[in-house]
Amino acid sequence: MLASDEVCRSSFPPGQGGGAARHAIAGYTIIDPFAGSCNSLYWLLRHMPTAHGIAFEVDPAIFAMTQANIAAVDTSIDLRLGDYRSLLPAYAVPPDHLVVVFVAPPWGDALNPVTGLDLRQTQPPVGTIIDAIDQLHQDKPLLYVTQVFQHVEPTSLADLASRFEWSELHINDINIEGMKHGILLGSCRWKPDKQGDR
Ligand SMILES: C[S@@+](CC[C@H](N)C(=O)[O-])C[C@H]1O[C@@H](n2cnc3c(N)ncnc32)[C@H](O)[C@@H]1O
Repeated sequence: MLASDEVCRSSFPPGQGGGAARHAIAGYTIIDPFAGSCNSLYWLLRHMPTAHGIAFEVDPAIFAMTQANIAAVDTSIDLRLGDYRSLLPAYAVPPDHLVVVFVAPPWGDALNPVTGLDLRQTQPPVGTIIDAIDQLHQDKPLLYVTQVFQHVEPTSLADLASRFEWSELHINDINIEGMKHGILLGSCRWKPDKQGDR
Protein backbone atom coordinates (compact mmCIF):
# COMPACT_ATOMS: atom_id res chain seq x y z
CA MET A 1 0.00 0.00 0.00
CA LEU A 2 1.39 3.38 -0.96
CA ALA A 3 1.35 6.39 1.33
CA SER A 4 -1.09 9.00 0.06
CA ASP A 5 1.60 11.44 -1.08
CA GLU A 6 3.30 8.67 -3.08
CA VAL A 7 0.20 7.70 -5.02
CA CYS A 8 0.75 9.93 -8.03
CA ARG A 9 4.48 9.94 -8.16
CA SER A 10 5.45 6.33 -7.80
CA SER A 11 5.87 5.60 -11.53
CA PHE A 12 7.61 8.77 -12.65
CA PRO A 13 10.24 10.44 -10.48
CA PRO A 14 10.04 14.24 -10.33
CA GLY A 15 11.84 15.91 -13.22
CA GLN A 16 11.27 13.09 -15.70
CA GLY A 17 9.35 15.20 -18.19
CA GLY A 18 6.07 16.92 -17.56
CA GLY A 19 3.49 16.78 -20.33
CA ALA A 20 1.00 14.31 -21.71
CA ALA A 21 3.62 13.38 -24.33
CA ARG A 22 5.09 11.01 -21.72
CA HIS A 23 2.34 8.59 -22.75
CA ALA A 24 0.98 7.76 -26.19
CA ILE A 25 -2.73 8.45 -25.79
CA ALA A 26 -5.07 6.67 -28.23
CA GLY A 27 -8.35 7.40 -26.47
CA TYR A 28 -10.16 8.35 -23.29
CA THR A 29 -12.11 6.41 -20.69
CA ILE A 30 -14.27 8.42 -18.29
CA ILE A 31 -15.18 6.64 -15.06
CA ASP A 32 -17.91 7.77 -12.65
CA PRO A 33 -17.74 5.47 -9.59
CA PHE A 34 -20.89 7.14 -8.15
CA ALA A 35 -23.27 7.20 -11.09
CA GLY A 36 -26.47 8.58 -9.53
CA SER A 37 -28.41 10.08 -12.45
CA CYS A 38 -25.27 10.02 -14.67
CA ASN A 39 -25.94 13.71 -15.29
CA SER A 40 -22.27 14.69 -15.02
CA LEU A 41 -21.06 11.77 -17.13
CA TYR A 42 -23.65 12.59 -19.77
CA TRP A 43 -22.32 16.14 -20.08
CA LEU A 44 -18.68 15.05 -19.96
CA LEU A 45 -19.39 12.75 -22.90
CA ARG A 46 -21.16 15.55 -24.76
CA HIS A 47 -17.84 17.41 -24.63
CA MET A 48 -15.70 14.31 -25.31
CA PRO A 49 -17.91 12.35 -27.77
CA THR A 50 -15.23 9.79 -28.65
CA ALA A 51 -14.57 8.90 -25.01
CA HIS A 52 -15.87 5.70 -23.44
CA GLY A 53 -18.04 6.31 -20.35
CA ILE A 54 -18.41 3.76 -17.57
CA ALA A 55 -20.43 4.29 -14.38
CA PHE A 56 -21.27 2.28 -11.26
CA GLU A 57 -24.41 2.58 -9.14
CA VAL A 58 -24.95 0.54 -5.99
CA ASP A 59 -28.63 1.39 -5.38
CA PRO A 60 -30.86 -0.86 -7.55
CA ALA A 61 -33.73 1.67 -7.68
CA ILE A 62 -31.44 4.50 -8.81
CA PHE A 63 -29.74 2.13 -11.23
CA ALA A 64 -33.08 1.20 -12.84
CA MET A 65 -34.19 4.84 -13.22
CA THR A 66 -30.84 5.93 -14.64
CA GLN A 67 -30.71 2.98 -17.00
CA ALA A 68 -34.16 3.94 -18.34
CA ASN A 69 -33.07 7.56 -18.77
CA ILE A 70 -29.88 6.54 -20.58
CA ALA A 71 -31.92 4.42 -23.00
CA ALA A 72 -34.06 7.48 -23.81
CA VAL A 73 -31.18 9.79 -24.75
CA ASP A 74 -28.39 9.61 -27.27
CA THR A 75 -25.45 8.55 -25.11
CA SER A 76 -23.19 5.53 -24.88
CA ILE A 77 -22.80 5.25 -21.09
CA ASP A 78 -21.95 1.77 -19.87
CA LEU A 79 -23.83 1.66 -16.52
CA ARG A 80 -23.18 -1.25 -14.15
CA LEU A 81 -25.10 -2.21 -11.01
CA GLY A 82 -22.94 -2.67 -7.92
CA ASP A 83 -20.27 -1.22 -5.66
CA TYR A 84 -17.47 0.39 -7.66
CA ARG A 85 -14.96 -0.99 -5.14
CA SER A 86 -15.70 -4.56 -6.22
CA LEU A 87 -16.51 -3.89 -9.92
CA LEU A 88 -13.81 -1.44 -10.94
CA PRO A 89 -10.80 -3.76 -10.39
CA ALA A 90 -12.27 -6.20 -12.93
CA TYR A 91 -12.97 -3.51 -15.52
CA ALA A 92 -10.26 -3.49 -18.19
CA VAL A 93 -9.35 0.01 -19.37
CA PRO A 94 -7.45 -0.02 -22.70
CA PRO A 95 -3.73 0.39 -21.90
CA ASP A 96 -3.32 3.45 -24.16
CA HIS A 97 -6.24 5.42 -22.70
CA LEU A 98 -6.02 8.51 -20.55
CA VAL A 99 -8.43 7.83 -17.69
CA VAL A 100 -10.69 10.62 -16.45
CA VAL A 101 -12.31 9.89 -13.07
CA PHE A 102 -15.25 12.04 -12.02
CA VAL A 103 -15.45 11.94 -8.22
CA ALA A 104 -18.73 13.01 -6.61
CA PRO A 105 -19.36 10.76 -3.61
CA PRO A 106 -22.38 11.35 -1.37
CA TRP A 107 -21.53 14.42 0.71
CA GLY A 108 -23.41 13.18 3.79
CA ASP A 109 -22.36 15.44 6.69
CA ALA A 110 -19.31 16.73 4.83
CA LEU A 111 -20.88 20.11 4.01
CA ASN A 112 -20.63 22.43 7.02
CA PRO A 113 -22.46 25.78 6.64
CA VAL A 114 -19.60 27.63 8.36
CA THR A 115 -16.39 25.86 7.31
CA GLY A 116 -17.53 24.56 3.92
CA LEU A 117 -17.14 21.15 2.29
CA ASP A 118 -14.67 18.86 4.06
CA LEU A 119 -13.39 16.46 1.40
CA ARG A 120 -12.19 14.10 4.16
CA GLN A 121 -15.75 13.68 5.48
CA THR A 122 -17.57 12.52 2.34
CA GLN A 123 -18.72 8.87 2.21
CA PRO A 124 -16.08 7.56 1.58
CA PRO A 125 -13.45 10.35 1.88
CA VAL A 126 -12.35 11.62 -1.54
CA GLY A 127 -8.69 10.85 -0.82
CA THR A 128 -9.52 7.22 -0.02
CA ILE A 129 -11.39 6.89 -3.32
CA ILE A 130 -8.55 8.41 -5.33
CA ASP A 131 -5.85 6.37 -3.60
CA ALA A 132 -7.72 3.12 -4.33
CA ILE A 133 -8.48 3.96 -7.98
CA ASP A 134 -4.96 5.17 -8.59
CA GLN A 135 -3.55 1.88 -7.29
CA LEU A 136 -5.42 0.14 -10.13
CA HIS A 137 -3.90 2.32 -12.86
CA GLN A 138 -0.28 2.89 -11.93
CA ASP A 139 0.70 2.43 -15.60
CA LYS A 140 -1.60 5.15 -16.97
CA PRO A 141 -2.03 8.91 -16.86
CA LEU A 142 -5.15 9.91 -14.93
CA LEU A 143 -7.17 13.08 -14.57
CA TYR A 144 -9.33 13.32 -11.46
CA VAL A 145 -12.29 15.69 -11.54
CA THR A 146 -13.63 16.16 -8.02
CA GLN A 147 -16.93 17.96 -7.49
CA VAL A 148 -16.58 20.67 -4.85
CA PHE A 149 -18.60 23.41 -3.23
CA GLN A 150 -17.65 27.10 -3.37
CA HIS A 151 -16.33 26.93 0.19
CA VAL A 152 -14.00 24.00 0.76
CA GLU A 153 -12.35 23.39 4.12
CA PRO A 154 -8.78 24.51 3.23
CA THR A 155 -6.87 21.71 4.98
CA SER A 156 -8.96 19.07 3.24
CA LEU A 157 -8.38 20.79 -0.11
CA ALA A 158 -4.62 20.96 0.46
CA ASP A 159 -4.59 17.31 1.56
CA LEU A 160 -6.32 16.27 -1.66
CA ALA A 161 -4.22 18.52 -3.92
CA SER A 162 -1.01 17.06 -2.43
CA ARG A 163 -1.87 13.74 -4.11
CA PHE A 164 -1.61 15.23 -7.59
CA GLU A 165 1.23 16.15 -9.85
CA TRP A 166 -0.77 19.17 -11.01
CA SER A 167 -4.07 20.59 -9.76
CA GLU A 168 -6.39 23.52 -10.41
CA LEU A 169 -9.57 24.67 -8.66
CA HIS A 170 -12.46 26.00 -10.75
CA ILE A 171 -15.60 27.50 -9.22
CA ASN A 172 -18.46 28.04 -11.69
CA ASP A 173 -20.02 31.49 -11.63
CA ILE A 174 -23.55 30.18 -12.23
CA ASN A 175 -25.24 30.51 -8.87
CA ILE A 176 -25.66 33.10 -6.14
CA GLU A 177 -22.66 33.95 -3.98
CA GLY A 178 -22.04 31.26 -1.40
CA MET A 179 -24.00 28.61 -3.34
CA LYS A 180 -21.64 27.99 -6.25
CA HIS A 181 -20.26 24.62 -7.24
CA GLY A 182 -17.04 23.76 -8.97
CA ILE A 183 -14.38 21.15 -9.58
CA LEU A 184 -10.87 20.40 -8.46
CA LEU A 185 -8.84 19.05 -11.38
CA GLY A 186 -5.87 16.88 -10.46
CA SER A 187 -3.53 14.87 -12.66
CA CYS A 188 -1.43 11.80 -11.93
CA ARG A 189 1.53 10.75 -14.08
CA TRP A 190 1.13 13.72 -16.44
CA LYS A 191 0.44 17.41 -16.28
CA PRO A 192 -0.73 20.00 -18.80
CA ASP A 193 2.47 21.95 -19.32
CA LYS A 194 1.10 24.37 -21.88
CA GLN A 195 -2.28 25.90 -22.70
CA GLY A 196 -2.87 23.50 -25.62
CA ASP A 197 -2.83 20.47 -23.28
CA ARG A 198 -5.89 21.71 -21.41
C1 LIG B 1 -23.88 12.33 -5.31
S1 LIG B 1 -24.63 11.01 -6.20
C2 LIG B 1 -23.72 11.00 -7.69
C3 LIG B 1 -24.05 12.10 -8.65
C4 LIG B 1 -23.66 11.78 -10.05
N1 LIG B 1 -22.24 11.51 -10.20
C5 LIG B 1 -24.13 12.82 -11.03
O1 LIG B 1 -23.38 13.19 -11.90
O2 LIG B 1 -25.25 13.28 -10.95
C6 LIG B 1 -23.97 9.58 -5.40
C7 LIG B 1 -24.48 8.24 -5.95
O3 LIG B 1 -23.49 7.24 -5.63
C8 LIG B 1 -24.13 6.04 -5.28
N2 LIG B 1 -23.15 5.27 -4.50
C9 LIG B 1 -22.78 5.46 -3.19
N3 LIG B 1 -21.81 4.61 -2.83
C10 LIG B 1 -21.52 3.85 -3.94
C11 LIG B 1 -20.59 2.81 -4.22
N4 LIG B 1 -19.74 2.35 -3.27
N5 LIG B 1 -20.56 2.28 -5.47
C12 LIG B 1 -21.41 2.73 -6.44
N6 LIG B 1 -22.33 3.72 -6.24
C13 LIG B 1 -22.37 4.28 -5.01
C14 LIG B 1 -25.36 6.50 -4.52
O4 LIG B 1 -26.37 5.49 -4.51
C15 LIG B 1 -25.77 7.74 -5.31
O5 LIG B 1 -26.70 7.44 -6.32
